[in-house]
Amino acid sequence: MTAKSDTAGSTGTSGTSGPVERVLSGIQPSGVLHIGNYFGAIKQHLEYQEQYAGEAFYFIADYHALTTVRDPEEMARLVRGVALDYLALGLDPGKATFYRQSDLPEVCELTWILGCVTGKGLLDRAVSFKDKVQQGIAASAGLYMYPLLQAADILIVRSTIVPVGQDQAQHLEITRDIAGSFNAAYDCTLFPGPKTMLNDAAVVPGMDGQKMSKSYDNTVPIFASEDEIVARVKRVKTSSTPLGEPIDPDTDIVYQLYRLFASQEDGDAMRRAYQAGDMGYGTSKGLLQTAMASYFEPYRDRRHELEGDLDYVEDVLQQGVKRAREEARQTMELVRERVGLDSRAMMGAAQ
Ligand code: ADP
Ligand code: TRP
Repeated sequence: MTAKSDTAGSTGTSGTSGPVERVLSGIQPSGVLHIGNYFGAIKQHLEYQEQYAGEAFYFIADYHALTTVRDPEEMARLVRGVALDYLALGLDPGKATFYRQSDLPEVCELTWILGCVTGKGLLDRAVSFKDKVQQGIAASAGLYMYPLLQAADILIVRSTIVPVGQDQAQHLEITRDIAGSFNAAYDCTLFPGPKTMLNDAAVVPGMDGQKMSKSYDNTVPIFASEDEIVARVKRVKTSSTPLGEPIDPDTDIVYQLYRLFASQEDGDAMRRAYQAGDMGYGTSKGLLQTAMASYFEPYRDRRHELEGDLDYVEDVLQQGVKRAREEARQTMELVRERVGLDSRAMMGAAQ
C-alpha cells in the first residue's frame, strides 16, 4: 500500500503507534459489488479494521449514488446489497463503524459550509465529472458537487487516512485543498489534511480485458452463483493461440484473474504450463471457474444468514451511525462556532 503525502497539518505518522489515526472510506451503492471492488477496495478495508480497530469508519455512500441511481427500489436494493456483502465478507461492527451516509444529515450541512470556502475552479478541474458526463450520466449540480460532498464525508469525522483506488486520488487532493481553504479562511487548524492510502493491487481486468467496472458490463459479482461464474468466465476474452502453442501469461486475462484467487503455487503452475504450451484455454478457464467459486464459498452461507436477519443488519447500521453522529456533531459544533453560526455567539456578540 502506498501513502500519498498530505498537506494542511495531518496528524502525521501511519501505523498503530504515534498520534491517533482515523480511517474512513465510502462505498457507492451504484451497482452490485464485483471482484474488482473486492481486490481493489474491500479487502484493504477489512485489513484496516484490524490495524485500526475502533477507528475505522466505512459508510454506504447513498447520497453520492443519487447522482446515478434514479429508481427508488433499485437504490434500496443496492444499499442492502452493499451492507450484506460487507458484513458477509467480514466487516466486524465491533471493530469498524459502519453506517449509511444518508443517516448522517450533518454531512449535508458541512457540504454547504465547505462549498462557501471552495473556489468554483477547484470543482471545474475534477476529471470524474467530465468522465461521468462522457459516459452519459446527467450533468446535474449534484454530480458537479460530488467531490465537495466527498470532502465533507471525510472531514466530518476528521479522518486522517482514506484508503481508495487510484481513481479517487484527485478527490482526495480536492479534499486536502478544501480543508486547507477552511483552515485559512477561519484562521484555525480544525481540519486535518487526510492522507490518501492507495492500494498497490493492480487493476483487476474485466472479461473483455478493460478495467473491470460496472460501467463496462464486464464484471463478475462477488456473490455470483456458480452458473453465473461459469457463464462469465466463458466470456473472458482469449487470444487465438492454437492448442499446444505457448501462451504469454502476462497478457492473458484468464491468468491475471486466476492469480488473484489461486495460491502462489497454483498460479506459478498455470504460468509454467502456459509457457510450455501444455495448457489451453479450456483447462485454464475451468481452473479459474473452480478457484473463483471456492474463494467466496465460506462467505456465501454467512450472506444467506444475514439476508434472513435484516433486523440485525439495520441494527448494525443504526449503532454505526450513532457513533459517527457523535463525532459529526462535535465537528459541527466547532465549525458553527468558528464560522459564527452559533446561537451563543450571537447572544454574546458585540452590538
Ligand atoms: P466501478 O468501476 O465498477 O464503478 P467504483 O468506481 O464504484 O467501481 O469503485 C469502487 C472501488 O473499487 C474504488 O476504490 C475503485 O478503485 C475499486 N475498483 C473498482 N474497479 C476496480 C478494478 N477493476 N480493479 C481494482 N480496483 C477497482
Ligand atoms: N467516490 C468514492 C467512489 O466512487 C466513494 C466515496 C464517497 C468515498 N465518499 C467517500 C470514498 C469518502 C472515500 C471517502 O469510490
